[in-house]
Amino acid sequence: MVARRYLPPLFSVAPMMEWTDVHYRTLARLISKHAWLYTEMLAAETIVYQKGNLDRFLAFPPEQHPIVLQIGGNNLENLAKATELASAYHYDEINFNCGCPSPKVAGHGCFGVSLMLDPKFVGEAMSVIAANTNVPVSVKCRIGVDDHDSYNELCDFIYKVSSLSPTRHFIIHSRKALLNGISPADNRRIPPLKYEYYYALLRDFPDLKFTINGGINSVVEVNAALKEGAHGVMVGRAAYNNPWQILGHVDTAIYGAQSTGRTRREILQQYQEYGDSVLGINGNDRPNVREVAKPLLHLFYAEPGNGLWKRKADYAFQHCKTVKSLFEEALVGIPDSVLDAPIGGVPSGREDLFTNVHDLMPPPYEHDAREEEALYA
Ligand SMILES: Cc1cc2nc3c(=O)[nH]c(=O)nc-3n(C[C@H](O)[C@H](O)[C@H](O)COP(=O)(O)O)c2cc1C
Repeated sequence: MVARRYLPPLFSVAPMMEWTDVHYRTLARLISKHAWLYTEMLAAETIVYQKGNLDRFLAFPPEQHPIVLQIGGNNLENLAKATELASAYHYDEINFNCGCPSPKVAGHGCFGVSLMLDPKFVGEAMSVIAANTNVPVSVKCRIGVDDHDSYNELCDFIYKVSSLSPTRHFIIHSRKALLNGISPADNRRIPPLKYEYYYALLRDFPDLKFTINGGINSVVEVNAALKEGAHGVMVGRAAYNNPWQILGHVDTAIYGAQSTGRTRREILQQYQEYGDSVLGINGNDRPNVREVAKPLLHLFYAEPGNGLWKRKADYAFQHCKTVKSLFEEALVGIPDSVLDAPIGGVPSGREDLFTNVHDLMPPPYEHDAREEEALYA
């Protein structure tokens, strides 16, 4: 069953493999109560084949709600089974990955962004996912793949997937993917952003909800996107690389909540309790101090002492057995004035990032009725 009047989150942190793990999400939630958090992509096969070991992949502390599980795959049976198994963990939404260009994913036939070339399959996949969960389902995709990059082709994808399944929410990483072997990092940098495609989708599919993603690097830019009419904004790299300045303003500047006045010292104290309580829980000393403390390496982005903190932490990872001892050894580089300061004013950003999107918009989607016949054939 899918909520009838579904509203996507105003602000979410993007799914990022090896970055938005349970530890990063713990830090993110200590900084922002309102941000929606996406997991890293988890392959349906991993969930199905690790059936006896699911906590390791799917468990999360209850404070991490609202949280979305992103799954990937190209096998309907496994997607159905994986969703059913994951439903015991009570995620708030299930998202399907149709945007990942990694050769490890897309190169193996239809998986990740190559699924955009097969909207009928994505529609079927979303139907089986929705049939195995009672929370909303969504798709995260690009605006195109290689030469299949016209606005009409994007619309055909959205139209078909939403006609064939209960999907009402699409997250649009507003650049196409190139499957010519460039690295995933280059695929997040080289294809140009076309925010006008995103805004044209809002115009052409008024019954659906869309979240904009890609290249949005500050809270000012998030609010600029919302002001232009975006239903929701997803931020990836900036929320990982500078969590304090991005997430620290989400509750107040985006959700209108009162400032809690919390400092990084308070956040680190809570994180330490969490970190030391999870060390070794997966056996074989995993997770270790390095894995648990990794997201903290970015907590002092551009602050005095940041470089020293990172160098000292890197050295301390070799011998520290607790997060407490890591802090005692490596935090000496950060001045008290930084540790004890609450979040300051909202940093500047490109307020005009979206002002010209309406001039650049492609002509309205022209739906070909013959396509519809083919769809239901
Ligand atoms: C290290 C890394 C891993 C990523 N892993 C995923 C993933 O698992 N699933 C996904 O849909 N997108 C993934 N992405 C893409 C992001 O979700 C996002 O779409 C992209 O970074 C653009 O947003 P940004 O410009 O705000 O970073 C990843 C990005 C990065 C940097």
